Amino acid sequence: MTIKPDLRKICLLFYSGIALLNASALAQVNDAHSAAQPSVAVVKHLALQVTVNFQKKIISGKATWTIQATSVANEIIFDTRDLSIRKVTLGDEDKPTTFTWGPNTEYLGKALHVKIKPATTTVNIYYSTSPNAAALQWLSPQQTADKQFPFLFTQSEAILARSWIPCQDGPGIRFTYEADVKVPSYLLAVMSASNPQVINDKGRYHFSMTQPIPSYLMALAVGDIRFHSLSENTGVYAEPSMLDKAAWEFADIPEMVAAAERLYGPYQWNRYDVIVLPPSFPFGGMENPRLTFATPTVIAGDRSLVSLICHELAHSWSGNLVTNATWDDFWLNEGFTDYFERRIDEELYGKDFSDMQWLLGIKDLQDALADFGDNSRDTWLKLDLRNRDPGDAMNAIAYEKGALLLRCLETKAGREKFDAFLKSYFSTYAFQSMTTEKFTRYLEKELINKDTALFEGFDYSKWIYGPGIPDSCSAVESSRFQIVNDVIRQYNSGTPVHLLDTKNWVAQQWIYFLQGLPKKLSADQMTELDATFKFTSTGNSEIAVEWFERAISSQYTPAYAAMESFLMSVGRRKFLMPLYEAMMQSEETKPMALTIYRKSRQNYHSIATGSVDEILDWKINGRNAPY
Ligand code: BES
Ligand code: ZN
Repeated sequence: MTIKPDLRKICLLFYSGIALLNASALAQVNDAHSAAQPSVAVVKHLALQVTVNFQKKIISGKATWTIQATSVANEIIFDTRDLSIRKVTLGDEDKPTTFTWGPNTEYLGKALHVKIKPATTTVNIYYSTSPNAAALQWLSPQQTADKQFPFLFTQSEAILARSWIPCQDGPGIRFTYEADVKVPSYLLAVMSASNPQVINDKGRYHFSMTQPIPSYLMALAVGDIRFHSLSENTGVYAEPSMLDKAAWEFADIPEMVAAAERLYGPYQWNRYDVIVLPPSFPFGGMENPRLTFATPTVIAGDRSLVSLICHELAHSWSGNLVTNATWDDFWLNEGFTDYFERRIDEELYGKDFSDMQWLLGIKDLQDALADFGDNSRDTWLKLDLRNRDPGDAMNAIAYEKGALLLRCLETKAGREKFDAFLKSYFSTYAFQSMTTEKFTRYLEKELINKDTALFEGFDYSKWIYGPGIPDSCSAVESSRFQIVNDVIRQYNSGTPVHLLDTKNWVAQQWIYFLQGLPKKLSADQMTELDATFKFTSTGNSEIAVEWFERAISSQYTPAYAAMESFLMSVGRRKFLMPLYEAMMQSEETKPMALTIYRKSRQNYHSIATGSVDEILDWKINGRNAPY
């Protein structure tokens, strides 16, 4: 029998009702995606001792949690997913205790109820992960850049941390951690914590994270990883063959940190490093504290895509310092970060550049709004993700509608006032979680009520609790995109491609150009464009994907081999989805989607296959099972 999560919570409330009456000391927000009852018993610190076994594809060991419980607590509840628990003990003396399981639900996993005494301060959980743990991707040497050694990385956001650590897996709960990690002696391990910069011959690494973080920021990568310093407090990690390229591409990181600090206050996490992962990493970037995880597809060879690093760095304030209390408040993480990213973009690369980023974002937003439909509940900023996987909330609404609301507030208040407001928001709520409602109370008090005339007739709540884009507060104009619009007009009215003036165009202009072309072109048109601009062989992943999309809908076969080799190695979900979707659009290209997916699926992370399976109806039709 499976019980719906909220029902499960009600049963639980009933069951531990007495404890809750005494629970006021430990505050709590209701989180539909965690079984934890932090108002009864909550984690404070983790001491993790694990071994990484590449043969078995298992992480195993002990998670020792320091906890705080109310005086009447008789249990502490952890989230788990596909974990096997060998035993649970209490205190330094390892006194055995009993535990029971909640019902198993698909993406939520199973609650682990551990019996405790009110005086319990330490819980030791002896456990191991499953070889198909959702957060973990185990790569064979062949699937790495250098093809010499295996590689492991984790991806915990949104609720996958529970598949590699038994934890209270909600963004509203924070803890510090230390970890002892044993890996094969020829590999280096790094985490979202203090990190080694050189390999040692024992394969044992110690980590410590002294700032409290939520579980979705727990992260580990193990592989043939080398370090290259960029400044005293920043650097990059990558496989040997990627290291120099990464160091060159990311040379601006020290300046990005300086610009971010000038904008919104001191960087609070000691070091800022980036690790370039193998190409199957399912995201562009992940803001693991002290160590952003990044896709190698951001390395274009000309630094044109590094604003992705500005984005992940910005999360060191919006997200990691002030954290969305539940996944329904996701826009507080991503919308703020997109806004902040563009402010860093502007500082480093000028307004011309940040305006292009804004407009590309607005285009994504318009596409998402069109997909969802005008009145969709999913286009509110405040989400309602009950009974849904929060991992599915990652779309342009939280990011771009959220960023636009902040842009709107900036326009109303004036930049100076708005920046002072944001800066004090980050310092006031540092290391705390934030609900949408707590934010709007602060907004009213600290910005709007201080000068109501500036906000005359403006209703932010329409943005948060309503669909679409309620106001157009400040139009974004870009002279560089105007140039592209002119060229597209010339092209559409018959100017031969080699006569189009595209001199000095940057990557964003090419992306915008391709987006502005008709989806379907003739073979002659595609051939002419390719001959002049060499799109099929571009080393820029963003441009390549825009081009491949048009190659599919125009059935421009000369691009297929390059596209297939791209899809064989790159596992970034944002790139896979539009390409497989485009192939599934017509009967002619559908077989190609299935053929390529059959070969490439094993190279993708479960987060990516989860989305692409749906596009291809993979499971339902059972093609090529077992996968
Ligand atoms: N935190 C997100 C990634 C994420 C969101 C993972 C939700 C799991 C669930 C990260 O900061 C992000 O937004 N990455 C973007 C890049 C960015 C430049 C928009 C990505 O991966 O595409
Ligand atoms: Zn982000």
